[in-house]
Amino acid sequence: MLPFPARRLLLSAAACATIAGFSAALAANLDLPTKRTDLTEADAKRVADVTRPTTDFSKAEQYEAMQAGGATSIDPVTQDSFSHISATIPFEEEQPFRLGNALFKKLWVSAPSSTQASDGLGPLFNARSCMSCHVNDGRGKPPEGGVSATSMFLRLSRPAATPEEQRAIASAEIVNFPDPIYGHQLQDLAVPGLPSEGKMAIRYSEEPVTLAGGEIVSLRRPTYAVTNPGYGPLDPTTTLSPRVAPAMIGLGLIEAIPEADILAHADPEDRDGDGIRGHAQIVRDHRTGKIALGRFGWKAQNSSVRDQTADAFSNDIGISTPDRPDAHGDCTAAETKCQAMPTGVQKRLGNEEAPGPILDLVTFYSANLAVPARRKASFPETLKGKEILYESGCTACHVPKFVTRRDSLDKAQSFQLIWPYSDFLLHDMGEGLADGQQVGLASGREWRTPPLWGIGLTKTVSGHSFFLHDGRARNLTEAILWHGGEAQKARDAFASLPEGNRQALITFLESL
Ligand code: HEC
Ligand code: HEC
Repeated sequence: MLPFPARRLLLSAAACATIAGFSAALAANLDLPTKRTDLTEADAKRVADVTRPTTDFSKAEQYEAMQAGGATSIDPVTQDSFSHISATIPFEEEQPFRLGNALFKKLWVSAPSSTQASDGLGPLFNARSCMSCHVNDGRGKPPEGGVSATSMFLRLSRPAATPEEQRAIASAEIVNFPDPIYGHQLQDLAVPGLPSEGKMAIRYSEEPVTLAGGEIVSLRRPTYAVTNPGYGPLDPTTTLSPRVAPAMIGLGLIEAIPEADILAHADPEDRDGDGIRGHAQIVRDHRTGKIALGRFGWKAQNSSVRDQTADAFSNDIGISTPDRPDAHGDCTAAETKCQAMPTGVQKRLGNEEAPGPILDLVTFYSANLAVPARRKASFPETLKGKEILYESGCTACHVPKFVTRRDSLDKAQSFQLIWPYSDFLLHDMGEGLADGQQVGLASGREWRTPPLWGIGLTKTVSGHSFFLHDGRARNLTEAILWHGGEAQKARDAFASLPEGNRQALITFLESL
């Protein structure tokens, strides 16, 4: 057992200052737009009007129940509520969506195999299909009672060790440095004949918290370790970052939020003095190598659904694509036995195990899963909870609404009023949630604000109510109570509410 805290090595203060200096310089030189260019003056005014935070909680706002605009699904609530196609997708594009869905569910097998179009799994992998982790297109959970960690894994990374390495991160050349032996991620499964990399072990300790009115809530604090390491010890400076699979809804709409509108909420120096210092994640687009705003993943480490999809094929399943062409996935040079295993590349089909059209279809599917309509949005209890959300300071990060770009490549995402309740920026969430792992410009204490739309259907779709990046929270109340750092004030405001008001806030979240 390698206990996590002993292995944690946060960047020294000097290294952090260097990175902060570089990132300020980088931000200044970004050619990311700081103003929308897709709107006429009249449209810009309309957008400013509809996205202004409300001050009237006596009734629901116009359109708020349709939380993904015209793309919202109004199908009845069932376990399949996250699996519907966006309502703005034209009929002729339903076929590619269905093909993408089939590929999302497809179980890959190890090479060589008689079903040549499905082989190439691994050699190291966490699961055999996208769907194994994103069950019903919903969120994953920590393993319970010793079962394998399917919908959750550990990201591995060691800190920058030299000024050159710090510069590479600060200029977004690279987001982090993999463990020299185990690579970017701990793969707990391997093809026959190859040892797996080991297992993720979690231990929880319970800590009681007393809320106003005397209610006691117990929070479970996790400790992570790698057991049965298959290839010797991990690097002593490697940190473990646990991640559960997020829900798959509304992702194309998130991609269509203009950079300028996300950057408008950034306040890295806290100029307005509210204690909230959200800042942008800056990464490179895989294909163009250009600087881009990070939006996807718990640390916003990917700028597009396509980049996140190619990463998932490579690291999670061990399948190569044109954007991540190494057929050995996350095998490092040190894992020589893994490097010697056969691959699933079929020259007659292309140079990769999953050639371009497959990546295109899975990306299309992933981008166009609909967000379900809200339930009970205009009920008095819900509206009371909404007012409390605003008053408690939650909306400083969980920004209610945006209007997507008019000139988005995909018309289905164009010019929609959406209500994700996120600023898509990085925030210091305190030591309690820290993983100690730097990813791009996200420090070991920072996480991207996750969108809250659909969160009230977690139990219906995924059959559980585990929240936060590692599923440690067992319900929404626990998720809020874990907030620290920049969110400490909002967390304390919640904890000191009378019980009825806390319940109203939860009722609001359940209506999303
Ligand atoms: C082993 C489990 C696992 C498998 C298999 C898996 N994912 Fe994921 N997925 C995750 C986790 C965990 C995250 C969060 C990653 C992070 O923050 O680093 C994620 C994140 C994502 C996101 C970003 C969502 C967001 O809100 O930011 C997309 C898109 C995605 N996965 C698509 C896919 C696709 C497509 C496949 C199949 C090619 C796939 N995933 C396979 C676990 C998995
Ligand atoms: C400083 C920014 C900030 C503020 C203020 C804030 N949050 Fe969050 N919230 C986050 C971040 C970042 C996460 C993800 C943390 C993690 O997973 O470790 C999060 C996670 C959550 C989650 C779990 C989401 C999921 O998908 O698992 C809920 C629910 C939530 N916040 C509700 C609230 C409520 C209610 C308030 C006000 C009482 C609030 N937040 C205030 C930034 C903030």
